[in-house]
Amino acid sequence: MLVPEREKARIRTKDRVITREYSINDEYRSLGLGKTYFVKTYGCQMNVHDSENIKAILEQMGFEEASCMENADLILLNTCAIRENAHNKVFGMIGRIKHMKEDNPNIIAGICGCMAQEEGVVKEILDKYKWLDIVFGTHNIYELPKILKKAMSSKKLEVEVYSCEGDIIENIPVKRDSKYKAWVNIMYGCDKFCTYCIVPYTRGKQRSRNPKDIIKEVEKLKKDGYKEVTLLGQNVNAYGKDLDINYDMSNLLSDTAQTGIERIRFVTSHPWDFTDEMIDIISKYENIMPYIHLPLQSGSNRILKLMGRRYTKESYLELFRKIKEKVKNVSITTDIIVGFPSETEADFNDTLDVVNECKYDSAFTFIFSPREGTPASKMDDDISLEEKEKRLYKLNKIVNMYAKEANEKYLNKVVKVLLEDYSSKDGSTLMGYTDTMKLVNVKAPISKLGEIVDVKITNVQSFSMDGEMVE
Ligand code: SAH
Ligand code: SF4
Ligand code: F3S
Repeated sequence: MLVPEREKARIRTKDRVITREYSINDEYRSLGLGKTYFVKTYGCQMNVHDSENIKAILEQMGFEEASCMENADLILLNTCAIRENAHNKVFGMIGRIKHMKEDNPNIIAGICGCMAQEEGVVKEILDKYKWLDIVFGTHNIYELPKILKKAMSSKKLEVEVYSCEGDIIENIPVKRDSKYKAWVNIMYGCDKFCTYCIVPYTRGKQRSRNPKDIIKEVEKLKKDGYKEVTLLGQNVNAYGKDLDINYDMSNLLSDTAQTGIERIRFVTSHPWDFTDEMIDIISKYENIMPYIHLPLQSGSNRILKLMGRRYTKESYLELFRKIKEKVKNVSITTDIIVGFPSETEADFNDTLDVVNECKYDSAFTFIFSPREGTPASKMDDDISLEEKEKRLYKLNKIVNMYAKEANEKYLNKVVKVLLEDYSSKDGSTLMGYTDTMKLVNVKAPISKLGEIVDVKITNVQSFSMDGEMVE
């Protein structure tokens, strides 16, 4: 048994990160034959992509994907720890699985992902949920066959969670959700330690993948017919800083663009490391999409300082304007936290000022949620939940107004959309995203699935648009 320890997860060493190749022992390859699995994913794109790896590993072991949780022999919850409600959802689901296991004790049930990296969560599992079968973390997904075999033969809870990150493992198999767009990790972990955030503890030290491995993956995706890649990391702008070659995010964007893949996106951009070179490269290449997610968190300099974000309202606005000016037709979205400890009405108004100035294409807004072990969770918080909800409501109204306004500019325009899926059950409408990441429901023949087509926008709402394909 290996349980996570927060004190260890906080440590950052200067040790070189080693890159290793994934492999699976033959002894694990038939373990799942005749059995089915179901993976339920919570949280961000990073988790979505990890689930794609987990599914492929399970299929190497002979498991087949079940159509729903109720039909599965193996259930894994790939969890998120970012806010309290993410936690609550998972514990609610664990309760449901308990009933299923009472009816059918042969079900194997497990927890992985960011909550599994939390000391407190694993203690609670060991205390109250001993009937679970496996717990593993974000650092050892590649060890799933070994852990599963142990649990299946011991019939006891196996907990294998590393507190520290370890090596980068290349070539973990992947079962992608889409045939047209793909997630590509470019780095793991985060060293920013924003005071409210749990991610540096659950995902470990920043580790950039080697550029050649990333480019190789993109080239392979292109060859396999993929139209779009999204480069993933908790703060992609810091890519390369931990490598001992002189190579950064602007170099990676430029090399990825030169593979000729049709669409390139990247998330998430911390304003701190956003360089002029990056802006130049984004504006230079047509296949780098004009869409940037640029989290603000707060518009108050006092709160930004307490959050450890290392930029000011003024420097954020300067960056924002620079991007708007240089990247043609760019859409910019953001994340905002309201009700950070000690946030006053005046601080909140500073946030509204920035929103009114930036008129974001859209924004994800959250009420501050204290996360165990983070500095912000120990700060004095004297604002009532009622007040925080009032602020969130007010902010959302403004955010939605600007989102609708931004979408209205698209009415009657012709835009490019990658048709990625059906949007209605009868198959008469498809859906996809514009270059600028606007969701569009498109009237188009099914044969066009997977293609980037011209679409005339016929109707807009705050969160989506309707359109018709034009030949
Ligand atoms: N790496 C990204 C953020 C990833 S988490 C970045 O730095 O921008 C996604 C969003 O969740 C954050 O941008 C933040 O707005 C929100 N968030 C993170 N921790 C939170 C907390 N403790 N309470 C409320 N919202 C939080
Ligand atoms: Fe969390 Fe900050 Fe890292 Fe984003 S940059 S993951 S908010 S610590
Ligand atoms: Fe959640 Fe972990 Fe992502 S905490 S937001 S799943 S990195």
